[in-house]
Amino acid sequence: MCGIVGYIGNEDVKETILSGLEKLEYRGYDSAGIAILNGNGLHIYKDKGRISHLREIVDFSINGTLGIGHTRWATHGKPNQINSHPHQSSTKRFTLVHNGIIENEEELIIEHLSDATFESDTDTEAIAQLIQKFSDEGNSTDRAIRYTLGLLEGSYALAIIDNENPEVIYAAKNKSPLLLGKGNGFNMIGSDAMAMIHHTNEFFELQDKEYAIITRQDIAIYNLQGRKIERETYFGELDATDIEKGTYPHYMIKEIDEQPFVIRRLIAAYQDEHGNLKVDSDILNQIRECDRIFIIACGTSYHAGMVGKFLFERITKKPTEIHISSEFVYNTPIISEKPLFVFISQSGETADSRAVLVKVKQMGYPTIAMTNVKGSTLYRETDYQLLLHAGPEIAVASTKAYTAQIAVLAIVACAASDSCNFNMLSELSIVANVMEALCDNRELYNELAKEFLTDKKSCFYIGRHVDYYTCLEAALKLKEISYIQTEGFAAGELKHGTIALIENCTPVIAIITQEQINLNTRSNIREVRARGAAVITMSLKRISSEKDQIVIDNVHEFLTPLVTAIPAQYLSYYAALQRGCDIDKPRNLAKSVTVE
Ligand code: M6R
Repeated sequence: MCGIVGYIGNEDVKETILSGLEKLEYRGYDSAGIAILNGNGLHIYKDKGRISHLREIVDFSINGTLGIGHTRWATHGKPNQINSHPHQSSTKRFTLVHNGIIENEEELIIEHLSDATFESDTDTEAIAQLIQKFSDEGNSTDRAIRYTLGLLEGSYALAIIDNENPEVIYAAKNKSPLLLGKGNGFNMIGSDAMAMIHHTNEFFELQDKEYAIITRQDIAIYNLQGRKIERETYFGELDATDIEKGTYPHYMIKEIDEQPFVIRRLIAAYQDEHGNLKVDSDILNQIRECDRIFIIACGTSYHAGMVGKFLFERITKKPTEIHISSEFVYNTPIISEKPLFVFISQSGETADSRAVLVKVKQMGYPTIAMTNVKGSTLYRETDYQLLLHAGPEIAVASTKAYTAQIAVLAIVACAASDSCNFNMLSELSIVANVMEALCDNRELYNELAKEFLTDKKSCFYIGRHVDYYTCLEAALKLKEISYIQTEGFAAGELKHGTIALIENCTPVIAIITQEQINLNTRSNIREVRARGAAVITMSLKRISSEKDQIVIDNVHEFLTPLVTAIPAQYLSYYAALQRGCDIDKPRNLAKSVTVE
């Protein structure tokens, strides 16, 4: 959500900022802007719409070696030209871009800015006006920024330009992500490494309530009291080619196809030299010693967590609860005496999950982050970490991170168990092979999407047992990228009301992987067929029936959610493709949801 790129160096800044913003498009946005400072002053271009539109309105004859850029996902005020960033103070001396939400904006205006006039509906403009006010009162820019930051409540990542000091970009952070990129003769700022990876792979981490003064040659980090902080740089693990689409038309299909390799990478990452499971012993002890596991997550990660509950209870025999982060934080259930909190988050930046983390840390409970992003907020702020090793996931719709989450949950459940009576790593290796065969069969899903989904307004996924969890995830996937209203439903619940929605040709996709519910789900299929539904059945080979359209090779009964996810992801992809949707950047959505 929102992206920031800044550059100060010796090269013209436009392409660096614009292409950096393009690398942040995956985060989700509805408007974009850029400010370039040169000897003739400051030049701002901004508007609602994509970076491709920003490229059309930027005057490419304007050159400059200092600039900041922004992609905005609207929170305060509509997505329009005026609300787009950068924003300026009323004298136009201070210009800034902001990611986050200032929670005490109204109080700040009443208390400090009652005479100021505002152009936009954003909370960001108040920050620029405050810096201006403190500067007008005779403070240095450095001090004016620090005074301002000291007053802000909420979240912010900021890049600030002072027209009267064209040799500096100021950056600051609280709760919203911001990295500082160290170059040779230049320095950069970015919401994440992807925005800078084509220029540098060496970074400084900026922590909450710190700010930085960035020149061409130097990056100096301070706390809000103005005390300098010494910090080492680190080298990122990201490779520039990891974030390219290559020959794929969309990131989503590239990421779906990558899943067999991700599973194999996980097998290698969680295996010792003797071929046994290898998981941090502190994590295993925490699991063994706790009296209950609380899994906290949102969206797709929440659905992976549902499978995680099943795995922990079946394999580890440990009572496990799964909670939606945004619910848990304000409606906290009874917590057991010795709980262990597991946060599942692809991005590691999800504000709803972080709010729970802050709360349970205050209560003194142990925490684990299961995330794809090393160094992300949840990674840094939890006691223990488990990495997903899925590689950067750029499409908004989560695919490979979802299956990686389930695989890591299965690995950890097995490693923590005294009685896991199967070889998890070799079962996962079978899963990887089955996934590969499913990927090779993608033309089938394309055809099924064409026949059953493309022109439909609504759809149902039905299943029982663990298949129900896949149904919830499959439904989310289909609705978020194709905009077909889809519900994932426990097949046995249909007759208690929802079956009223089944009409002639309503698509119903049934998933059946568990022997003990095979016949029950097939009865439910007959019930919807009798009411006119157009049914696609996806089953595992050992319980398949002749007419099932998607038959998946056998995998261990606990690991079926890893394979049923694949056809569901392809069905969503092809339905969205045939409907002409913006697959990697679906409307209204953001990749990392950094507001509550
Ligand atoms: O980064 P996280 O895993 O914490 O994100 C949670 C959800 O926002 C995310 O899974 C979302 O539901 C996806 N867009 C679904 O594809």
